Order: sequence, then structure tokens, then C-alpha cells
Amino acid sequence: MRDLNLVVVVDYGSQYTQLIARRIRELGYYSIVVTPEERVNPDKISAVILSGGPHSVFEKDAPQLPSWWQKYDGKVLGVCYGMQLICHAYGGIVKPGIQGEYGKTEINVIGKDPLFWGLPDSFTVWMSHGDEVASLPGTFDLIAKTNTGMVAAATDYRRFWLVQFHPEVRHTVYGLEILGNFLARICGLSPDWSLEDFLHRKVEVLREMLKGKKVIAAFSGGVDSSTAAMIVHKAIGSDLVSIFVDHGLLRKGEEEEVPAVFRDLLGMNLVVVDSKKRFLEKLEGVADPEEKRKIIGEEFIRVFEEEAKKCEAEFLVQGTIYSDVIESSASGKYTNRIKSHHNVGGLPEHMNLNLVEPLRELFKDEVRRLGELMGIPRHVIWRHPFPGPGLAVRVLGEITAERLRILKEVDHIFLEVLRETGWYEKTWQAFAVLLPVRSVGVRGDKRNYGYVVALRAVDSVEAMTADWTRLPSDVLDEAARRILNQVPEVSRVVFDVTSKPPGTIEWE
Ligand code: XMP
Repeated sequence: MRDLNLVVVVDYGSQYTQLIARRIRELGYYSIVVTPEERVNPDKISAVILSGGPHSVFEKDAPQLPSWWQKYDGKVLGVCYGMQLICHAYGGIVKPGIQGEYGKTEINVIGKDPLFWGLPDSFTVWMSHGDEVASLPGTFDLIAKTNTGMVAAATDYRRFWLVQFHPEVRHTVYGLEILGNFLARICGLSPDWSLEDFLHRKVEVLREMLKGKKVIAAFSGGVDSSTAAMIVHKAIGSDLVSIFVDHGLLRKGEEEEVPAVFRDLLGMNLVVVDSKKRFLEKLEGVADPEEKRKIIGEEFIRVFEEEAKKCEAEFLVQGTIYSDVIESSASGKYTNRIKSHHNVGGLPEHMNLNLVEPLRELFKDEVRRLGELMGIPRHVIWRHPFPGPGLAVRVLGEITAERLRILKEVDHIFLEVLRETGWYEKTWQAFAVLLPVRSVGVRGDKRNYGYVVALRAVDSVEAMTADWTRLPSDVLDEAARRILNQVPEVSRVVFDVTSKPPGTIEWE
């Protein structure tokens, strides 16, 4: 099999590092993110990009050039901190800026460097830096400056191209062109990465690897786990047994929809384990959110294990995706970011199975496109994220069959209104929460004492931070009216206007 071009992005902790790799893939090149300490074979690298980051080259523990730097003699694009690091290492002068530069800035191109091929002489870029380059190393020339005369881009024409701004951010109007120019015109690469190609290669590799083996998949019906199972299904067909544990905490109708799509439509060998009663019994009388999560996690493992034993499986397919991988290794080291992981907790260690993670290299949007390529219906692919413990963390306090039923109805109505008004696809995640408080209302001249439900809709980038969605008042009004009309147990509907931070997306 021929080797793909490999573009290595070295992560210095910028919140945009992953975005660089995504843009490069958009341009048709395979790209990975590594820490400066991570070992990479320099002979396999086609181009290197050093990312930005929150550090200053003057800090005592400032992250350094990658460990394989001396052995790599190809071309490098230094972005922001990456630029300052190279300047600092090769004899330039970096100094703390007076107040830093953040936001949109106009830059002016000097000369005719291929980095700016096909672009106008001046355009808007996105800056985000504290330190600045006061003087370039002797062998470097300025190829773009800001309106105030600061260094915006420089090169030694041989190995290093440096930009102070962020080409990966959409506010840099020709950012994608600049990255494309670097790879094609400066590094001389031709695009050779596509998802179709990835799919064919992956299916071949999996077929070879799993031939004659017993394989199971932990299948939740979510985008990642179903795309992972689907790709293995393409490779080995019904030799893959996908296990779907129905814990009864799913959204309304999902337990019927999942088999209808994956078994009936797509032909997967899907085992549905109806464990609703079991989970509800275990959760009886439990109100503490962490306790609920723990019980669900443990029970899930137990049910799954019983099913897996029946299959005598050796391999377990999991829907780990690239952002999970880099969050637990690369990014995070130099990034000030807090995120806990919500994967099928502890399954592999517990069961001593070999892991198959066919989506490890892919970003979420690539996973979605891959799912679509394999025929998974759009409404499944674009479904909002859903927590593993399901509605358990949205029925606040104790979970009963009755409360679950009420929440499922309310949630269903809210999402229905969002779909009808075109808001479902515009929000990252939307749902209803059933509160453990009651409120007085009147219904047909009678006083009633019903539940309070909260509606939540958020806009987010990968759930790290979130802002509440500014839903139009008539959309909220329609949702509230329908809920109050159709679910008599509810007497009050409220809308959550908390952002993350300081709130979280879920209520528990
Ligand atoms: P929070 O509430 O932490 O949620 O802002 C961030 C994202 O993660 C989802 N979430 C979970 N997913 N198990 C999961 O699989 C969990 O325990 C869990 N808690 C939160 C949440 O829906 C949101 O998309």
C-alpha cells in the first residue's frame, strides 16, 4: 500500500490546534497532531506545522521544538507561538508585547512569496498573541506586516515559513489558501487523502485483521458507535455482533428506531438486550447524580459482559474518535482544558478484549460524513449528542418509570417543535429536564400541582464551552403550549439561560 503524505501538526496548546489538522484534511492531506515530546519517524513526515499556544518563549518550562527536530530536514510552517519559537531558536528577538494583539487585523503582503500566491496585497487575518517578534533572525525576510508595521509573516526561503496570525481560523479570510499554498507550492505536495479512500483502506485492513475472529461492538445508537460498528460490518458482515443494551433511559421511540435502522435497513447483526426493568430496579430510591452514573456504568458492564460471553468474543469495537485520542494525550498537556471522558467506561480493561477502534484517526465531522457514505440515515448522523447514562441525568432526583415517561414525552415535544421550525440543526444540543419540584397551576378551573420542566438548548464547539441558544420567543411559546396541553402532569415550563462555564450542559 502506498504511503500517504503526512502533515504533522505539533501541538503547543493553542485552542485552535485541532482546527489546523482539520483544515489540512479539508485540503486533502492526512494530518495528525502530536506533542513536542512524542516520537515520530522524521522520514515519514511530508510537512510540519508548529501550532500556536498560550505560552511565552521566556517561561522557564516553555515547550520546546520537537524531539525529532534535528533529524527532520523538510519544510516547516510556524504559527504564532510556533513562529516565536523558531525566531527565538535561530537568533531573532522575541519580546513581550505591550498589550498583545487579539482579533482581526489587516496585513500587507511584501514581495511575491508563494505562501501568498493568488492572494490580494492586503487582507484581514486573526491575531491572538501576547509576545511579538521584534527582530527576525538574520537569514529571514519579512513577507507581510501589519498596518502598524509589526511582523505578520517571514521566511528564510529555504525551510521555514512563519506567520504571526492564525490561518486555521475562519476570520483569516484567505487562511485555507495560505495553508494550501504552503503544502502545495512550498512543500510540493499533492492532495491524496479522502474519506472514500480511507473507507476502502480501512475495510480492507479490518477484513484482513478480523478474518475468522469473534467480534462484538458496544452499540449505543449514537453517531460514533454506530459508524464504528458499520465500518466493521462492511468488513466482516454478520460475523460482527453489535450489542445494544436498552437500559430504558433513551429518548422516546429510540429503542424501536435503532433496530429498524441498523438491523432492518442496514442489515447489521444487532442484538437488542432489553434491560429496562433491571436498570430501573437498581436505580430505585437513588437521587444522587454520581451514584446514578456509577450504578448505570456498572450495570451496563454486567449486562454487556453476559452477552459478550455468549458470543465468546475476542475483539471489541469501540467508537473512539480522534478528539478523544488527542484530548487524552496530545492536547491537554499544554492546554488549560478540563473535560472528563464519557466513553463506555472501563469495558475493555474489565473484559480483557482486544480493542478495535476504526475511527481513532477521524474528527467528528469526518465520522459523520463517513456514516453518510455508508448509508446511515441523515437524521441518525445529525442527532444531537446524548449522554451515556441517558435520561437518568435529566430526571433530577429519584428515577421512576412514571417520571421517565413524562420526561420522554416533554423532550419529544420540544425536539419536534425545534425540528418543525428548523432550529434542531442550528443547535448543538437541546433537551428537556424534569425537576424534582412541583408548582401550582390551574387546569379547567381546578388547581393542580404538577411538575416543573426546564428546556435547554445550547450552541457549542465540541461541548467544551457552550452558550444558551437564543431561541425565538414564538418557538419557545409553541413548545411550552404543546407541552402543557399534551402532558397533564406538567404545570410549568421554564427555559434555561445558563452558559458553560459556569454551568454545564447537563443538569446533573
Ligand atoms: P456537560 O454536562 O459536562 O456535558 O457540560 C458535556 C457533553 O457531554 C455529555 N455528557 C455525557 N456523556 N456520559 C456521556 O456519555 C455522561 O455521563 C455525560 N455527562 C455529560 C453531555 O450531553 C454534553 O454533550
